[in-house]
Amino acid sequence: MKKLLVAISLIIIIISGCSMTADNNKDMEAAKQESTSVEKNTSKIDSVEDSLLSPDRILNIAHRGASGHAPEHTIASYALANEMNGDYLEIDLQMTEDGELIAMHDSEVDRTTGGEGAVAELTSEDIDLLDAGEWFNEEHPDLAEPVFSEAKVPTLREIFETFGKESNYYIETKIPEESPGMVEELADVLEEYGMLDDDMEEGQIIIQSFSEASLREMHELEPSLPLIQLISYDKKADITGEELDNINEYAIGIGANYKHISKEYVQKVRDAGLLVHPYTVNEKEDMERLIDWGVTGMFTNYPDRLNDVLDDMDSE
Ligand code: G3P
Ligand code: CA
Repeated sequence: MKKLLVAISLIIIIISGCSMTADNNKDMEAAKQESTSVEKNTSKIDSVEDSLLSPDRILNIAHRGASGHAPEHTIASYALANEMNGDYLEIDLQMTEDGELIAMHDSEVDRTTGGEGAVAELTSEDIDLLDAGEWFNEEHPDLAEPVFSEAKVPTLREIFETFGKESNYYIETKIPEESPGMVEELADVLEEYGMLDDDMEEGQIIIQSFSEASLREMHELEPSLPLIQLISYDKKADITGEELDNINEYAIGIGANYKHISKEYVQKVRDAGLLVHPYTVNEKEDMERLIDWGVTGMFTNYPDRLNDVLDDMDSE
């Protein structure tokens, strides 16, 4: 069944013009030709407009795929995100008992599958038996699709096998302190699938985490990988110069919950030479306001909606 679902997804991708649009391919080709060096993990990010990491771009990060339209973290959700021209597939990682990296937000399988229990106490074989889309069809009858009932929990390997080097990945190590070895395993899988090779565009892989320790560990292992420090604020966001200097030692930007940030916050982070990617922005008026404040991208469950906003702004 897994093979069937992957085959269906591949057909969707091919029909929709592969996982990147002609425009995105053109952007990436232009970036390859025009981009000079991006000094990663410092504040000196080039301003080459087409470069994925350019502060002049507004990145459309498809949060858990196009998860406003399809069950989160499934091949169907990622395929739809690519169809909708999201710039990145956002993937949360959990690690199984036998050390396989899988795409799942929660540390337990209960909310998004028919199973129950902690990922860390289940093997990859156990996970492979679970359905990952039935809940979505039940909760969203208006969006339900028979194919979602067939959805499985993908491993990171299956995602790379399906979408290859033509997609861009924004990968989060989830609670890595509870999954020893997660960062090394991620680096190994990236290497295994050629995601660290020279033929990859600068910025095609971004690693994000709330855990500074895990980002610093990744920075040690793979200094060239761009990293984003996630921060969760529970009141009006502020950040000190010292904190910005610290983040600038290993990361190229900050991902913060959008409801607590302000124009001043965005400016402060940008002035420190860091990118700002708020999460998770689903309403057009919030998207417009944040773009106006100077963010350099955002996480959204609706990559189509963000592209509408960007198109409208372009045509003004
Ligand atoms: O990774 C950015 C954002 O997704 C963080 O929140 O809980 O959706 O992973 P969460
Ligand atoms: Ca995430």
